[in-house]
Amino acid sequence: MKVGVVYYPEHWNRELWEKDADLMVETGVKVVRLAEFAWSRLEPVEGQYEFAWLDEAVEIFAKRDIEVILGTPTNCPPLWLYEKYPDAIQCDEHGNRVSIGVRGHRCYNSPSLIKKTIQIVTEMAKHYKDNKAVVSWQIDNELEAYHCTCPVCTDKFREWLKKKYTTLEKLNHTYGNVMWSGEYSSWSQITPPLGERQSWLNPAYLQDHYRYASESMVEFVKLQADIIRKYCNDVTITTNMYLGNMTPDFYKTFKELSYASYDNYPVVVIPKDHEEIYSHAFHLDLTRGIKRQNFCIMEQLSGALGCWMPIGRTPRPNMIKGYSLQAFARGADLVLNFRWRSATKGAEMFWHGILDHNNKLGRRYEEFRSLCHTVHEELQMLEGTTIRNKVALLFSHEQDNAFKFQQQSEGFHYYNQLKLFHDGVMRLGVGIDIINITEDLAQYEVVIAPTVYIASPEIVDNLTKYVQNGGKLILTNRSGVKDESNACIMDYLPGPFSSSVGAVVEEYDALGNDTNRICMENGKTYRCNQWADILQLETAQSLGTYMEDFYEGKSAITKNRYGAGEVYYVGTVLERDFYKDFMSDVIEGTSVETVKNLPDGVEVSVRENDTQKYRLLFNNTNDVQEVRMEDCETIVLQPFEFYVVR
Ligand code: GAL
Repeated sequence: MKVGVVYYPEHWNRELWEKDADLMVETGVKVVRLAEFAWSRLEPVEGQYEFAWLDEAVEIFAKRDIEVILGTPTNCPPLWLYEKYPDAIQCDEHGNRVSIGVRGHRCYNSPSLIKKTIQIVTEMAKHYKDNKAVVSWQIDNELEAYHCTCPVCTDKFREWLKKKYTTLEKLNHTYGNVMWSGEYSSWSQITPPLGERQSWLNPAYLQDHYRYASESMVEFVKLQADIIRKYCNDVTITTNMYLGNMTPDFYKTFKELSYASYDNYPVVVIPKDHEEIYSHAFHLDLTRGIKRQNFCIMEQLSGALGCWMPIGRTPRPNMIKGYSLQAFARGADLVLNFRWRSATKGAEMFWHGILDHNNKLGRRYEEFRSLCHTVHEELQMLEGTTIRNKVALLFSHEQDNAFKFQQQSEGFHYYNQLKLFHDGVMRLGVGIDIINITEDLAQYEVVIAPTVYIASPEIVDNLTKYVQNGGKLILTNRSGVKDESNACIMDYLPGPFSSSVGAVVEEYDALGNDTNRICMENGKTYRCNQWADILQLETAQSLGTYMEDFYEGKSAITKNRYGAGEVYYVGTVLERDFYKDFMSDVIEGTSVETVKNLPDGVEVSVRENDTQKYRLLFNNTNDVQEVRMEDCETIVLQPFEFYVVR
């Protein structure tokens, strides 16, 4: 396990490089990431590659036993490239080339961009192939699956559709293009989504475009990964993911790469109502689940964030160290803080680094130094350990994309549906994996699959088989609504899940921000909102009923025996406490261990190998918390403190 920083030699005077590297050694930095935006310095003039400055920087670190992760600089093609090859610039939703001068404006499919990418990545790979200091590569930076509308992308999308549907007739039929006379009579009429209002466009067409855009981005990743692999033996390759509206299918992206990486900027102001208290843990669990293995944080919070927004609050004492340790606790093996020093120039000058503009050693630096010491001197027993959980939460890009343009009700958000269950499980002190919905589920005792809206045969089979073989599955409202092509299934909901759920939806009410209440069998009541499935039971047993409105007394939550397993159905979205109570009931009777009376906001995880288990605690609150665990004495945790139970 290692700690490092992101460093930009090209941003600083040459005389600072050694000073910085010496201080890094003293601080305990083991790894630096370099060069991911430096194309204009690596190829200042077309075909003229200049690696001397980067060689010098790499050498400075190598001499000090600091490892290097090299970035390919394709996020920022230099201006000469755009000037000479304007087709390398993406087009926006109106078909116009976007304005350049910021970053990330390249079009992955542009032949010129591809040609120039092959050249620069090949030159870099050849140049650094024998350099032992370069241990890993990062491809591009925070890749997004843009919806570029340039002529090349338009053609490529048409070809993608031709391959999938073969004939226009089949495509028109699948999309239902007869609606509003939208039938294509020629392939040339097909374009990427134009105009800003996706909610007016055909959902089947949009679903395909999201798939296509993601696949085409993955090709760009593979193109680069193949070049690096061709020249450099024994290096690992990754890319740094962030979660946004244009995030590509990260399962497919990282399938091409050695390990998953995530840029982690947790919030500095902890929400008082604790609604989002486990949100950071959620993102870390999601990252670990991408390849179902340990991962890296390529950029980690180091100071106040500001630049395209007003400057936010500075991280509270213990946060810099605590949030990094939280990442290690949830499966990171490497955390790089962004960035070594705050930039004094450029748009990002107020996205603060470990060192401030004054270049003096301040409070955050001291915390970072202490982090390096803790990880490298005190936590090495965690080296080689992994996280093995028995509860899984299923994520699906198909669902995430579909909800982007068809929000189901006011306030409905796919990630929130997942986070509610994650929160409930976390509050019980139970570890949870977030994995792709198509993964093998055999190792899990409990599987939660919220809003399986697009119920492809592959997904339905996977979940049904899991239950038939004895698993406990939780399904929710908005499941089994659509087929693979994002068309509504003409059947009672939850469509292909009806027999395993043992109930059908006779009617639904999209509550949005309005509320109803649920009364559980044990008399406990909870507020609910966003959605109300009114259930008609077949073989299922009712666990909770509505207390208000014309469907008062009707069932909202059920349980059904199916095959050797059980299926729970939650037909509405409830207040936070429900998920903790409900998950506690579902988990009972399994071998999953819970932690009783865990304070809200304290996280528990277990890293283990074949001989040892380490239980790790992290206090993600501003308060001192006391944890009383059955098998050990009371542990007092300061705000953002991390603790290993030995
Ligand atoms: C990240 C990005 C970095 C830097 C940082 C802070 O999203 O990868 O390059 O821009 O945000 O602004």
